[in-house]
Amino acid sequence: MTDQVDLYKKIAGEKAVEYIEDGMVLGLGSGSTVYWTLKKLGGLIEQGLNIKGIPSSLRTEGWAKYFNVPLTDFSDVQVLDLAIDGADEIDPNFNLTKGGGGSLVREKMVNFHAKKVIIIADQSKMVDELGKFPLPVEVLQFGWQVTAQKIADLGAKPVLRERDGCFFVSNNDNYILDCEFNSIPDPEKLHHSLKQLLGVVETGLFVNMTDMVILAGAKGVKVINK
Ligand code: A5P
Repeated sequence: MTDQVDLYKKIAGEKAVEYIEDGMVLGLGSGSTVYWTLKKLGGLIEQGLNIKGIPSSLRTEGWAKYFNVPLTDFSDVQVLDLAIDGADEIDPNFNLTKGGGGSLVREKMVNFHAKKVIIIADQSKMVDELGKFPLPVEVLQFGWQVTAQKIADLGAKPVLRERDGCFFVSNNDNYILDCEFNSIPDPEKLHHSLKQLLGVVETGLFVNMTDMVILAGAKGVKVINK
């Protein structure tokens, strides 16, 4: 990643806090762009802002604690006011590919239960069509090989995610298959086809779940409403 992309992520991440209001319950997304939102949010909390958040990954939980962001969970609240999250790809209809960091299940639950979802990203994440970024699909460890074969039958090349020479295990104790489709012309249809496969826990396709995109790039920061 270039320093420039890091800077864009910081700009987009910090911009998102402008939409946070006192008293809100927030969905705290995952990824390096959200890090900047959490950092900025920590500063506002220090100045008296009163919010609480549900983290969508253990990594986010760690960052939130570090920045003194008060946390809660679904035993306490069922509806969130606002979720702020990153993405790996965003199409012109605001459909997303997510899960590059491996937190797609928790991210989807948090975003689904939020009244409003803001996606923050550097401009390279905006694409004409999803699919260049291999689609993360979370699967049960048990029988992952047969699940991968069924996904391959749908036209993908699934690769079991590894980190540091070991199979990557999600925050939910599942595996992730990174599935190369190259082109996903109908994200909703593909999501449903994948969800029907035994062994698939969730897909990284977030269809019709985004209200606003904040994109930062060479020309500055853009706020795009659906
Ligand atoms: C985590 O599983 C992902 O969905 C992230 O939100 C996504 O990968 C974006 O991450 P960055 O903000 O690090 O680019």
